[in-house]
Amino acid sequence: MACVRRPDRLDPTLTKHVALIGFMGAGKTTLASEVARRLNRQLIEVDRIVERTSGRSIPELFEAGEASFRTHEERVIRGVLANPRPGVIDLGGGAVTSPNVLHLLSEHAVTVWIDETVDTCWERVQGTERPLAQDETAFRGLYGPRRALYQHAADAVVRDADDVVLAAAGVHVEGGALRRLGELIPGDGRVALVSDPNVAGIHGMDAQLALGARLAQVHELPAGEDAKTLAAMDRLWQDLRLDRSGTVVALGGGCTTDAAGFGAATYLRGVPWAPVPTSLVAQVDAAIGGKTGIDLPQGKNLVGAFHWPVRTVIDPTLLDTLPPAQRLEGMAEVVKTGLLAGEPLWELPDDELVRRCAAFKAAICLRDPHDDAERKLLNLGHTFAHALEAAASYEGVTHGQAVALGLLAALRLSGRDIGQVEEILHPKPVRVDRDKAWAAMQRDKKAVGGELRLVLFGESGPEWDVRVPAADVRRELDALIAG
Ligand SMILES: NC(=O)c1ccc[n+]([C@@H]2O[C@H](COP(=O)([O-])OP(=O)(O)OC[C@H]3O[C@@H](n4cnc5c(N)ncnc54)[C@H](O)[C@@H]3O)[C@@H](O)[C@H]2O)c1
Ligand SMILES: [Zn+2]
Repeated sequence: MACVRRPDRLDPTLTKHVALIGFMGAGKTTLASEVARRLNRQLIEVDRIVERTSGRSIPELFEAGEASFRTHEERVIRGVLANPRPGVIDLGGGAVTSPNVLHLLSEHAVTVWIDETVDTCWERVQGTERPLAQDETAFRGLYGPRRALYQHAADAVVRDADDVVLAAAGVHVEGGALRRLGELIPGDGRVALVSDPNVAGIHGMDAQLALGARLAQVHELPAGEDAKTLAAMDRLWQDLRLDRSGTVVALGGGCTTDAAGFGAATYLRGVPWAPVPTSLVAQVDAAIGGKTGIDLPQGKNLVGAFHWPVRTVIDPTLLDTLPPAQRLEGMAEVVKTGLLAGEPLWELPDDELVRRCAAFKAAICLRDPHDDAERKLLNLGHTFAHALEAAASYEGVTHGQAVALGLLAALRLSGRDIGQVEEILHPKPVRVDRDKAWAAMQRDKKAVGGELRLVLFGESGPEWDVRVPAADVRRELDALIAG
């Protein structure tokens, strides 16, 4: 893929720290360490740094007066946030009482709030050494005013590590979010709403109403893969009337988000964009991770750019209007995600299924935004799928059907059970030319020394660039082809 690698100036989400806030005992430290592990980022515990740099324990520092402690704490937070390598910051419960800290957080961090009840917090901290948790009445008295501060400072309210990962990636998942679109798109600049005729007909008016006075224009791309053509891009570029403070909002399936995202990445050398995915494929896959692009006659996704959205707004209730065949397309990616995550995510109800799958992909993409390493895992089953689709000249076999077959092949080569894939996706062998499929497979993954490199499962989970003898790959590819 010929890609424009965008400087992070245009992808501020990728350089922001994640800061966890909440009352004493809300569970910040536990969650922060889990998120640091998930994102492969440094865990920064402000209280510990304060103790280390002052040479005194927190209770000792408080004995000298809360004000001097806060001054010290603010200095530490300023230093931590100035580090260009984003970390996961466990902030002390009272850090947000400083207006300076609030300002710094708004510039350099995605701030997430663990909103825990005062009863639970007290249960956890009573009897500990924490200076502000020595007296229950005082503790409870502090809770209300602090809660108001957290509410003001927070970019998102979180319950678990998935929520934090999504917030870090700029992804907002909420049933009914479409109706709050105007407030969820950052900034106050004008918006170009880009959609396709099907989605515009069903959800376009709700989106327009929600955007209110910010709506500058509406543009319709063709439905389906025709959106990802140079001709459609030409029309979009020429129609856009945003200045650089404007935002492209892409409402639709993966074709709309891929094309509109690429339009945003290139128009005026890059304007912000926000996908609002409406298909299952787009909610769990296409709209996450900042890959945008269009097709060429020579192949799919050959021109594109990495352009991380300023916000991704996912409203799982929009899936209610999705045709069943399109839902099945998305289930192939859901099963792929569940297999990679090692959990039957496909069994969850829609809102949770979407949240968990989106968080899984978001974490991988945050760790490897430019596809240099582990993001390749997301190609599980896809080398086979692409070969089958190419052999069928992209007609008669859908991407989802091809992925379902590709998952079978990857599992068989890994010595794993294929029962779940068969049960949920019912893959049927496709009628395509075997030699054509094999030729496409070798073009996609150049065989080196008689071996191909695939995503497979090893003993400790999925691995990328696993070398497999060409003969074994060909045998499994043949098994996916009928006749
Ligand atoms: N950028 C990425 O990382 C990435 C990842 C996966 C897939 N993709 C791309 O995504 C594209 C496929 O996406 P797709 O399957 O969503 O296709 P799509 O955008 O064509 O949508 C499928 C169909 O469903 C309709 N639709 C969408 N939402 C609807 C809703 N809520 N109600 C009724 N109808 C609705 C659309 O109008 C369309 O006809 C491919 O081009 C693929 O390359 C990109
Ligand atoms: Zn796919």
